[in-house]
Amino acid sequence: MKTYGGKVCIKTYGCQMNVYDSEIMTGLLIDEDYKITEDMNEADIILLNTCSIRKKAEDKVYSQLGVLRKLKEKRPSLILGVGGCMAQREGTEIFRKSPSVDLIFGTQQICNLPALLNKVIRRGKVMAIEEEKIDQEEVRAYRADKTKVYVAIMRGCDNHCTYCVVPSARGRQRSRPPEGIIREIENLAKEGYKEVTLLGQNVIAYGKDLGEIDFADLLERINKIEGIEKIRFITSHPKDMSDRLIETLPRLSKICEDLHLPVQSGSNRILKAMNRGYTREEYLKIIGKVRSLIPRISTTTDIIVGFPGESEKDFTDTLGLMKEVRFASAYIFKYSSRPGTSAERMPGQIPEEIKLKRLHKIISLQRAIATTKAQNIR
Ligand code: 5AD
Ligand code: SF4
Repeated sequence: MKTYGGKVCIKTYGCQMNVYDSEIMTGLLIDEDYKITEDMNEADIILLNTCSIRKKAEDKVYSQLGVLRKLKEKRPSLILGVGGCMAQREGTEIFRKSPSVDLIFGTQQICNLPALLNKVIRRGKVMAIEEEKIDQEEVRAYRADKTKVYVAIMRGCDNHCTYCVVPSARGRQRSRPPEGIIREIENLAKEGYKEVTLLGQNVIAYGKDLGEIDFADLLERINKIEGIEKIRFITSHPKDMSDRLIETLPRLSKICEDLHLPVQSGSNRILKAMNRGYTREEYLKIIGKVRSLIPRISTTTDIIVGFPGESEKDFTDTLGLMKEVRFASAYIFKYSSRPGTSAERMPGQIPEEIKLKRLHKIISLQRAIATTKAQNIR
C-alpha cells in the first residue's frame, strides 16, 4: 500500500483558526515528503479539518463522510482522517457513525499528525484527542497566500458563553510566549510578508494566562517589526476591550482600521442569559469610544437570533442596536443548540420558523444599512 510519501487532500471547515491549522498540517506533511493535492479522487489520504460551532457545520462533515465512504469502497487503501473541533468533541462517536474513518485527531494533536498517520498505516484505526501543547515554533506552517499571513497568538477560550461549544472543542486559553510570536513575525517579514493577521478565539485577552504582558503590549512590539505594514486581529470579546487597549490602537500606525467585535444580542436579558459579561449600554460605550478615537474605523459584528427565551421585545432590542451602531457588516446566525452547553437545557427554545423569520428580518436590515453606508448616506 503506497501511502507514506503519498498524496494528501485536506478539506477545511470553519473559522480562520482552522484554515491556519490546515496550513500547519500541510507544512508538517510536506516535511515528511507527502504531496498535497486538492483532488480527492487522486488522494491516498483525505483529512477533514472540522468545525462544531453550529449543528449545520457538523452535518456537512457527516454528509461528506457519506460520499467518502463510497470512494473508499472503490479504493479500500484510502485513509480517511477527521481532525479539528468536531473530532475533539465527538471522539469515538465518529467511528461509530462513520466506520470507514481511520483516524480521529483532536485540536491539540495537529503537531502529531505525521506520527498518527504512521500508526494508522502500520496498525489501522487510531484516535488521539488528548490535550497537548502545540509548540508552534517547531512547526513551519505552509502559507498558500504569499502576502497575507495568519499567526495564532493564543488558543482556546476561558469564557463560558452558554451557547458555545468552543471551550470544550479547543480547551482553556493558552497564550503563546511573546518572544516566539515576535521571532516568527520577524522571520515572515524577512520572507517578504507585509500583512499579518493575529489569530485567537479571543485575541484581546492575550497574556491573561501568562501574567507579564497584555495584548496592547504585544501590538506595540509587533508594530515595530520592520517590513510589516498592516496588522489585523480576530476575534475579540467586548468584555476584554479595555480603555488601555482602545487608546493604544490609534497610536500604532500599522493597525488596520477595522474591528470585529461580536455583540451577539442587543437585549440585556439575553446577553445575561448568554453570560456575555457586558450590557448593551457598555457595548455601545465601547463602540462610541473606539469611533471617537479612530473616526475612520469600520466595525463588524456577529449576531445570534433565536437564543432560548428571546422574545419579540428582545429581538426588537437587537434590531435597535443594529440601527444605532450601523455596522459595516454583520455575520448573523440562527441559534443552534449544541450538545453539552448550558443553553441546550434552557427553557423557551425558539421554534425554527420564528428563528428563520428573525434571521431574514435582521439580514435585510443589515443589508439596507450596509448599502446606505457604502453610498455614504448616513
Ligand atoms: N449557534 C449559533 N451561532 C453560534 N455562534 C457560536 N455558537 C453558536 C451557536 N450555538 C456564533 C457566534 C460567534 C460566531 C463565531 O458563531 O455569533 O461569534
Ligand atoms: Fe468552528 Fe469554533 Fe472550532 Fe473555529 S474554533 S472550527 S468556529 S468550533
